[in-house]
This record gives sequence, C-alpha cells and structure tokens, in this order.
Amino acid sequence: MSYETIIFENIGDLAIIKLNRPEKLNALNKKMLDELDDCIKNIEKNNSIYGLIITGNGNKAFAAGADIAELHECNKQTGKLFSEYGSYVFKRIEQLPIPVIAAINGYALGGGCELALACHIRFASENAKLGQPEVSLGVIPGYGASQRLPRIVGKAKALELIISGAMIDANEAFRIGLVNKIFSQEELLDKTVEFLNTCFKNSKLAVKASIDCINKSQEMSLLEGLHYESQKFGEICASKDFKEGTLAYIEKRLPNFTNE
Ligand code: COA
Repeated sequence: MSYETIIFENIGDLAIIKLNRPEKLNALNKKMLDELDDCIKNIEKNNSIYGLIITGNGNKAFAAGADIAELHECNKQTGKLFSEYGSYVFKRIEQLPIPVIAAINGYALGGGCELALACHIRFASENAKLGQPEVSLGVIPGYGASQRLPRIVGKAKALELIISGAMIDANEAFRIGLVNKIFSQEELLDKTVEFLNTCFKNSKLAVKASIDCINKSQEMSLLEGLHYESQKFGEICASKDFKEGTLAYIEKRLPNFTNE
C-alpha cells in the first residue's frame, strides 16, 4: 500500500503506520484521514496482521492536530461533517481486533492527541508533549477527546486539560495515566515492537476477545458488560487455543497456539 500522507509498513505479524507530513508536524488533513481510512480498511481485511503501531514520521511530532488551515474553513454544516469523519476513522481504529499502540514521538496535540486516545495503549518518548489546545483556537475537540479523555484520565483531569488548553510533558502524561510507558526517542519504536512481540506469544483469539470486552466496557453498563464477558468467555472455551493453553500449563510446557 503506497500513500502520500502516511507510510505503511508490514513486517511479519506487525504493521506500522507513520503519519507523514513532517514539514507540518504531521497535522491531520482530509487527505491523511482518507488515507488512514483506506489503510485501516485494508488492515481489517488482512488476517495476518496481529498488531498495529501508529507513530509520526520525523523526530518532532506524532501529530500537532487537525490541519488548522482546513479547520478554519468550517461552517456549521461542514464543521459537523469534519468532526464526524475524524470520529468515524478513529472509531474504526479503536475497534480493530488487534492491539493498536500509539508511539507518541513528539507533539500529540488536538486531533493528534485524539488519535492517540483512540489507540488501545499509548507509549511516549521523553520529548513528547500532549494537549488539547482547541479552546485556544475558539473551538472544542472534535475527534473524540471530550468523550475518551475523561474515560482515560477521569472527568476532572480531562476538564483541566481541555478548558486550559495546556500542554503537558511525557512525565505528567504518565503520572495521570494518559500514557502507559515512557522511553527515549531512540528506543520508542523498538520497545513498542518488543511489547507487541510479548502479546504475540499469547493466544491471538484471547487477545482479540479481551480487546473487544474492554472496548465494550466503555459503552455498556456494568451488568451488561459482565454478561458480555461471560458470553465471550464461553465462546473462548470452545477454542482449540483454550484447550492447548490450559493443557500446556498442566503438562508444564509452552503452548503452541494455532489461532483456532
Ligand atoms: N495545522 C496546520 N499546520 C500546522 C499545525 C496544525 N495543527 N501544527 C503545526 N503546523 C505547521 C506550522 O504552521 C508550520 O508550517 P510553516 O512552516 O508552513 O509555517 C510547521 O507546521 C511547523 O510548525 P511551527 O509552529 O513552526 O513549529 P514550532 O516548533 O515553532 O511549534 C507547535 C510547534 C506544535 C507548538 C506549533 O506548531 C503549534 O502550536 N501548532 C498548532 C497546535 C494546535 O493548536 N493543534 C490543534 C489543532 S485543532
């Protein structure tokens, strides 16, 4: 897959998307969302990709937000469509049945931070800066931060970040649970791959079902979610991976998962 505003790499089980407008700090324009949309559709159809990393090309930015020049053109109707389109693409990233990790290698602001929020896990480099500066531009977050940020860091911290528009560094983002781990800029990608390789040793069916249940926990009541988890648990108990994983434990050997 060859694109203009993103770089797609597929190495074995793993795919990497690099946002690629470094001269504009990887700001998300319509073309980039179109290409992300197409790329995600291809990943959805590809049964041999088991993990996805999203990062920024260059050493300065993950993504410094929606493209402000395009944003400026929005009116009431087109503004709603602008927000709905980004939300739709990001929702599909969140719903991918494989681990999706944002490797935040610099600025993750506005729509860039929202893209990271839609990923399942966030790792950051020491120089990362995160924030939702939309109110300083006279607008509000439009690609999901008002909904996902409170679910990740709690309502009060989300409000503090969104209504101040303040940027926070990697350490503060780690402290409030916005990023899971911090690495040096040089190590970020390798360590992210290393993490995914650990996940790949587990049953891919069980990883997929876990992601699904945890995604559902954000949308369902506790009772509905517990019911959903039991349903999935039963389904997984019918898999070969489940029999193999538990038998391997009993026989004191490593499991040989076949993803069935
Ligand atoms: N949309 C469009 N262009 C952007 C952009 C964005 N969100 N963020 C950065 N750029 C462009 C700049 O306009 C500049 O382009 P130019 O060289 O053609 O003028 C280029 O990227 C480099 O940015 P610059 O501002 O010169 O880098 P810096 O290191 O001085 O500052 C930031 C970095 C992130 C602090 C600054 O670029 C910034 O505040 N960007 C906007 C962040 C924002 O409000 N995002 C939310 C959008 S909803």
